Amino acid sequence: MADLSINMCGIKSPNPFWLASGPPANCGEQVMRAFDIGWGGAVWKTLGTPVVNVSSRLAAVKYSGNAIMGLNNIELITDRPLETNFKEIYEVKKRYPNHAVVVSLMVETKDEWKEIVNRSIDAGADGLELNFGCPHGMCERGMGSSVGQEPKVLTELTSWVMDFSSVPVLVKLTPNVGDILVPGEAAVQGGADGLSLINTIKSIIGIDLDTLSLKPSVGKNSTNGGYCGPAVKPIALHMVAALARDKNINIPISGIGGISTWQDAAEFLALGSTSVQVCTAVMHNGYRIVEDMIDGLSNYLDDMGMKSVNNLIGKAVPGFIDWGDLDLNYKVIAKIDADTCIGCQLCYIACLDGAHQCIHTNQGPCSAYHGKSDHGMNPRVDIKQPILHSHDSNAITSIPFVDEDECIGCNLCHLVCPVPGCLTMKEIPNAAGKESWNDRIAKKTLL
Ligand SMILES: Cc1cc2nc3c(=O)[nH]c(=O)nc-3n(C[C@H](O)[C@H](O)[C@H](O)COP(=O)(O)O)c2cc1C
Ligand code: SF4
Ligand code: SF4
Repeated sequence: MADLSINMCGIKSPNPFWLASGPPANCGEQVMRAFDIGWGGAVWKTLGTPVVNVSSRLAAVKYSGNAIMGLNNIELITDRPLETNFKEIYEVKKRYPNHAVVVSLMVETKDEWKEIVNRSIDAGADGLELNFGCPHGMCERGMGSSVGQEPKVLTELTSWVMDFSSVPVLVKLTPNVGDILVPGEAAVQGGADGLSLINTIKSIIGIDLDTLSLKPSVGKNSTNGGYCGPAVKPIALHMVAALARDKNINIPISGIGGISTWQDAAEFLALGSTSVQVCTAVMHNGYRIVEDMIDGLSNYLDDMGMKSVNNLIGKAVPGFIDWGDLDLNYKVIAKIDADTCIGCQLCYIACLDGAHQCIHTNQGPCSAYHGKSDHGMNPRVDIKQPILHSHDSNAITSIPFVDEDECIGCNLCHLVCPVPGCLTMKEIPNAAGKESWNDRIAKKTLL
């Protein structure tokens, strides 16, 4: 069985799965229960001058039967006394010396930083995480994402903490910036030991159309919140990968954003994360999701012949290159397997209205669903008839076929096809060899 243990800039953990700073890591009783179930670490709910929170404070986007595709919150940092938090951190560390307890912090002045860093270390923190990411409530007070969006301030605050801290320090970045490399490099300049990202994305999640009030409602009003959950995973993956391939970022990354399964976690690891943090998925389904995460990742590593999770970290990073270096001569086209096709026509409609009008039925181009003429403008009326499977006489009218010469290989039909393995994309061998846009620029042969 593969070794799942990690050492992230000196913070050791039995596995890479950490609770992210938020409601699931709000108090000692929760963190201990999570550790018992299998979580390797926890980033404590952000400590600072305790706040007053509002009610309600969460709202969600539902999609296709999933109760929380995206979650929006207007919760602030801890609303519990600091003394209580520190006592509980001390207790957790005493009982779970081998688990990672990282304390998330957010205060304003240099003196406050010094005091809270010292108290966190005295309580037994294995590491600190600086919350420069919260995009609501705290940023209006000059903290959270207002620091993460100002590289000079971010560098300065990080360097204060580095002077005060004897334990590793992670800087948690906000995704609410134009280029994530700017705050990432600013954190490195400040001396950070590691990065964590993403915090939530500034958002308005929706309107109640009966009352015309924003969600989540606080009486008749609301405000912008922070968006997270499965919907944000692609944004988080991109930012993690951008930092992982940046030559100026030579510190480990803790990946966060939309992680719900072992596969999500493996993707973050492959794109350069050393640990992964989870908030929304735990809020949705509870701590026990970590059991599947551990089993799944472990089996995957075994199947891949990897003896340690460290072998996976960053493995996919070299595959990420600039658009200008992609091979313009690489080509795939859609292929429909008539034996498994159920004739639903989803691919046909998608290609007709959303792609390149090169999937047809034997009723003729553009006729089956529009029931109208092609306005005499369809350039592709002279198409070959489909080769249909002989045993299925019904298929004569329902199984679409691809005009392969016209297919641009965009993938859309493959994405909408509901039958696994039915509509696949096949590589077309190309004798011309690789040529990128940047090659063409160099050779001055742009078209
Ligand atoms: C209700 C709620 C409260 C949160 N509170 C904090 C916090 O106190 N400190 C912090 O750094 N991040 C906080 N976060 C952000 C999470 O740590 C995490 O960065 C974000 O939710 C993305 O991960 P996810 O998609 O797994 O939820 C909070 C998130 C939610 C949903
Ligand atoms: S890959 Fe794109 S262009 Fe080709 S058949 Fe599918 S939808 Fe049409
Ligand atoms: S979407 Fe798939 S199953 Fe439906 S018609 Fe197209 S190939 Fe057949």
